[in-house]
Amino acid sequence: MPPRPGPSTAPTEASSSVSLAGGIAGSLISARGSSGSSGFSTTNSAEFAFDSDMSKYPTSMTSSIRAHVYEGGLRYHAFRDGQYAFPNDEVEQNRDDMKHTMSLMVCRGAYLYAPVHDRLEAGGAEVLDLGTGTGIWAIELGDKYPVAQITGIDLSPIQPNFVPENVHFFVDDFEEEWVDAENKFDVIHIRHTLHSVRDRKLLVERAFRHLKPGGYFELQELLFWPQCDDESMTPQTPYAFRDFMTYMEQGMRVLGSELRAVMTLPEEMKAAGFADVTKKTHKCPVGLWPRDKRLRLCGLFLRTAIMDGLRGLAQRPLTALGWTQLQIEMFLVDVRKSVMDTKFHTYFAFHVVYGQKPLA
Ligand SMILES: C[S@@+](CC[C@H](N)C(=O)[O-])C[C@H]1O[C@@H](n2cnc3c(N)ncnc32)[C@H](O)[C@@H]1O
Repeated sequence: MPPRPGPSTAPTEASSSVSLAGGIAGSLISARGSSGSSGFSTTNSAEFAFDSDMSKYPTSMTSSIRAHVYEGGLRYHAFRDGQYAFPNDEVEQNRDDMKHTMSLMVCRGAYLYAPVHDRLEAGGAEVLDLGTGTGIWAIELGDKYPVAQITGIDLSPIQPNFVPENVHFFVDDFEEEWVDAENKFDVIHIRHTLHSVRDRKLLVERAFRHLKPGGYFELQELLFWPQCDDESMTPQTPYAFRDFMTYMEQGMRVLGSELRAVMTLPEEMKAAGFADVTKKTHKCPVGLWPRDKRLRLCGLFLRTAIMDGLRGLAQRPLTALGWTQLQIEMFLVDVRKSVMDTKFHTYFAFHVVYGQKPLA
């Protein structure tokens, strides 16, 4: 197994030399933590080895982690191809940023619910953001707490080059062993990503191991099931968007993960040893039906994120169910109509769950 690049906060010679960003300190996007069993070919695995002739690494690393896979006109990550079912193209990145704004509005501006503000302000705290996406949450947290160190990891190198000095991005698969030391992090955060985790038990246990005693694991996730508190959408009402979510759940299961995993998370966290596991639930409307201005805006962001993403969301899960391209397209016509129809007063629950690794 080749040695691995060093920790995020102090990029080693190796991790620096494979930097793709070439930007200011803290903007390194490097591959890390990849072993021979990672799914890389032997040739690619060798790219991670230390060598006195480092000159060859920038080129080879760039091509391997910057590469993309194209399928049905959509672009996907190539590193650990197939691990994540959704695209990483511009449409998807815009959707992620939209959902970021929506999430902050739903949570009334809170980046974290866990009581960690003081330690993030005190200096030296380490935060890990799993599945950081465009890195927008990590970057804004880094701005808010300039003396904390924020590490974001993702399968896709889609984070910007110019970021605060205390923010570092790495290409990595968080479902593989982590290169970081155990008992290292004050906060581990994951948002809008749990639906794609294949082995939740292992992830929760791993987060526990890598947190400092007293550190917090926080997860923020939409429950992908349209709910309704009035008669506008009952279980008997024909509603193509609900059918869409049913098929998505089935397709994701075929691909290896649970779309509504957040439901069982609190119990799983307790089983892993987390204390004071707390769950807060908000409602995020689908569409412009609420009267309340803040909720209408949340609904607009969520509806736009859904509408813009339908093709990319559906492609792999519905193909996994054996659907043809034509069947998908035809079905999405009805789904779009139902999402845009303001007579349905539906919402997704937005769950925030956090727990603490006991001090003792
Ligand atoms: C819906 S996006 C959410 C991005 C970000 N957390 C946010 O809230 O803005 C999910 C991200 O998780 C990443 N991801 C999924 N599985 C992953 C894994 N096993 N390792 C690393 N990243 C992963 C995807 O590449 C994608 O960028």
